[in-house]
Amino acid sequence: MKGMIFCEFLEMVEGSFGLAVMDEMVESSDLPSGGIYTAVGTYDHQELITMVIRLSQITETPLPELLLAYGQNLFSKLMDSLPGLLQDNQDCFEFIKNIDSHIHVEVEKLYPEAELPSLSFDTIDDDNMVLHYQSCRPFATVAHGLLLGCSVYYDNGFSVNVVNSDQASDNEISFRLTRTVAVV
Ligand code: HEM
Repeated sequence: MKGMIFCEFLEMVEGSFGLAVMDEMVESSDLPSGGIYTAVGTYDHQELITMVIRLSQITETPLPELLLAYGQNLFSKLMDSLPGLLQDNQDCFEFIKNIDSHIHVEVEKLYPEAELPSLSFDTIDDDNMVLHYQSCRPFATVAHGLLLGCSVYYDNGFSVNVVNSDQASDNEISFRLTRTVAVV
């Protein structure tokens, strides 16, 4: 997975818990990379999982809480770091429907070694859609956080609820998105 995803994680950990906790997390995680990431490098996603589990233990914070916060924070960082991929003034649902077919495709062109999840959708009506996440990586809760970050980015434009949570897994999950802000 791209180094930028790791760099943002470390930045969030340092900002939320401080340098000492970040150092303890990295040093006790026994990482092949040594915990040194460059934005354009590529690293094993398992390193991120190892670190977030350690962080949960060190800070006694539930894992889902950390993954949601991380995803939410990551959204605006991705938007800032890859601005060329975005169209101005796009409606939030149109934006989300374009991620799989446009944004993640462009990411893969920029970084051929990137591996993106599959994000398909069902349109229910103008104010409701269902987004299906599927990946070989267990980042369903990060996807949930990214959607929350996207909603905030669009002035809290929609709510996010897990659909059929009894069937959801870390690799496969569906979210119902409902507009909270009317389209003008
Ligand atoms: C709500 C919107 C989005 C969702 C739900 C989403 C979902 C995800 C998830 C869950 C991953 C982790 C890999 C995996 O689970 O298989 C990922 C990776 C990634 N996404 Fe997105 N994404 C969103 C928007 C964006 C945007 C707007 C950008 C860029 C402007 C972006 C760029 C990337 C990049 C660079 C990676 C890393 C791929 C790699 O290193 O292999 N994503 N995305």
